[in-house]
Amino acid sequence: METYGVVKVNYDVSGKADFDVITETAGVLKKLVAQSRTSTKKVVASLPNNIVFVSVIDMPKMGEKELKNAIQWEAQRYVPLPLEEVTLSWTALSEEEQEGKMKVLLTAVPSAVIENYLKMFKLAGLEPVALEIEALALIRSLVGNRKDSILIVDLGARNTSLNLVDKGFLRVSRNLGVGGDTITNGISRSLKVSSGRAEQFKKDLSIAGEIKELPQVIREVLDTIKYETLQLVKIFESSGGRIQEVILAGAGAQLPGLISFFDDTGLKCKLGEPLKFVSYDPRLKANLQEVGLSLSVALGLAMRE
Ligand SMILES: Nc1ncnc2c1ncn2[C@@H]1O[C@H](COP(=O)(O)OP(=O)(O)OP(=O)(O)O)[C@@H](O)[C@H]1O
Ligand SMILES: [Mg+2]
Repeated sequence: METYGVVKVNYDVSGKADFDVITETAGVLKKLVAQSRTSTKKVVASLPNNIVFVSVIDMPKMGEKELKNAIQWEAQRYVPLPLEEVTLSWTALSEEEQEGKMKVLLTAVPSAVIENYLKMFKLAGLEPVALEIEALALIRSLVGNRKDSILIVDLGARNTSLNLVDKGFLRVSRNLGVGGDTITNGISRSLKVSSGRAEQFKKDLSIAGEIKELPQVIREVLDTIKYETLQLVKIFESSGGRIQEVILAGAGAQLPGLISFFDDTGLKCKLGEPLKFVSYDPRLKANLQEVGLSLSVALGLAMRE
């Protein structure tokens, strides 16, 4: 890694009728690229989990051309949006599957979102080379070449994604509409403090062993994540699979005590190490260690060949 830069944006749009998020974000990107002295104009970006539709579907074994036609047909069944408004993409996940069958990773993204991304990069003077779903980037940075079955739980700000990876391939990706900010907002409301103070309170709080005494909103968020994790594991294991490890990522996973919160699930849990496969200037180590987990997706995108 040559350099990196992180910027958090939280636009205050109140009273700004002409606020244009694309122009604004392009400006932020431009500054970030300049400040981090990035030497390339090329960009690989991830698509927000909550608007991407991801599905791994079973298909009869077929060639590329045939698949192209069949996918249009299948997509009508799987994609909950009008097909003329989405951009579809798919990859056959070739593995030693059952005779005559194959698994296909199908993604659908609202075309308007893609257009907005492209517009934004153009304004920022950047050249997009690929847009990718977060799950694939997470597999690159957190799983590497491991061939066992792993569940990646990415606890972000407003979303938490559960990504089941088997033999290096994505099997299921599910997005939960709760994350670290849901917890912060809950603390802020229940203790009647500013969100800044609530955020600090959250970072200082150790949830280990105290979960029963926690404000209900924190418990609700964490219980949802645990419940959905167990559901996914159950479905996978009922068809003969076995989850070897749960890898927690996203900055929200730094919640002190989160690993032990999963103790009673019987699952082996650990924090992800997204910097494990990356070489970098040792002088950056301390800083990177701090932001590492929140860069899991970005690092995976950068690792694309
Ligand atoms: N030390 C910490 N302890 C607990 N939570 C933290 C810590 N540092 C950051 N967070 C939380 O992590 C969340 C942000 O995580 P991350 O940067 O992975 O999100 P994001 O990818 O930007 O958001 P999203 O995935 O929802 O789009 C915030 O809710 C923040 O409060
Ligand atoms: Mg995220």
